[in-house]
Amino acid sequence: MSIKILGIETSCDDSSMAVWCDGQILSNVTYNQKIHEKYGGVFPEWASRKHLEAMIPLMKETLDQASCQLTEIDAIAVTQGPGLIGSLLVGIGFAKGLSTGTGKPIITVNHLEAHVMSVLIDEPKPKMPFICLTVSGGHTQLVLVHSIDQLELLGSTIDDAAGEAFDKIGKLLGLPFPAGPHIDKLAKLAEPNFQFPITQLTGYNFSFSGVKTSVLYFLEKQLAQDKDFISKNLNSLCASVQHTITEMLVRQLIRVIDQYNINQVGVAGGVSANSHLRNRLKTVAQEKNLSVYFPQMQYCTDNAAMIAHAGSFKFHKGIFAEKNFEAMARFPIVDSQVS
Ligand code: KG4
Ligand code: ZN
Repeated sequence: MSIKILGIETSCDDSSMAVWCDGQILSNVTYNQKIHEKYGGVFPEWASRKHLEAMIPLMKETLDQASCQLTEIDAIAVTQGPGLIGSLLVGIGFAKGLSTGTGKPIITVNHLEAHVMSVLIDEPKPKMPFICLTVSGGHTQLVLVHSIDQLELLGSTIDDAAGEAFDKIGKLLGLPFPAGPHIDKLAKLAEPNFQFPITQLTGYNFSFSGVKTSVLYFLEKQLAQDKDFISKNLNSLCASVQHTITEMLVRQLIRVIDQYNINQVGVAGGVSANSHLRNRLKTVAQEKNLSVYFPQMQYCTDNAAMIAHAGSFKFHKGIFAEKNFEAMARFPIVDSQVS
């Protein structure tokens, strides 16, 4: 019998729904909330309101694209956390309403685990065990995936996330939010002529607040001498920032790979869309004989396909949510989710 799962993702500023059916993503529709651009970051109150407006049309579009009726859905997978509490509550409230109306069960999904599992949506995919570098706007983590049920968190950021560093530095450069894709595009037009410190912590943790501060002080100094410094050097500044963040990520990843002697690597989350990071990792893969896997672009940034996909593993094990489950603003990857 064919199984269909409706995925719902509203943890931050992207409203997304998807239909998963027997290992295939039939549709994955994401509404990006443009309203945050002018604030230079996500405005939580607006995010919740925009999610609320999006729910019904988004579900219609998602089901239409999958040529699927709501009555054909077997379960509803929804992001439980981590994320903005108001945003999570909209998706969860909608999922609970659908569940009550249709009688279909809910599967709760950890957003971070869904990012990790997103490298398994399509072929080719890494073999277990593999190391996953998750790099998004809210999180930067190195996870050892022993199996679907056993994820081991090896390291994470102690301050800003990699995407947050792109976005905050982009704001200093006058770029719109989210700045990551803009920096990626502009960096292609110049060489990285400026040097910023490459922070490397002991263990497998990351720290990105230092690079942000050093760019800030550097710009202040340069702008005092030439008020047009940024516009004259924007492309090279982008290339330099991108180079610095990429090196921090790649160096820690290499340390983990060497320590654990694992040659299967996945890279997930919004920043995994970055073209320089992808190219750099391809070179590392050749040098160190690794297989590196990236999700399709539409599964890199926040999306419901990864939620429905992660939910399918729980579905097959019969793990469904209690009716009174709550949103979890903080919801770490639980080490060794061995069931
Ligand atoms: O995974 P995601 O959509 O949301 C979170 O869970 O946070 O990641 C969003 C982040 C933003 O910080 C954005 O600037 C960054 O991913 N991003 C990129 C690129 N595309 C998205 N950063 C660098 N280069 C890109 N091409
Ligand atoms: Zn995310």
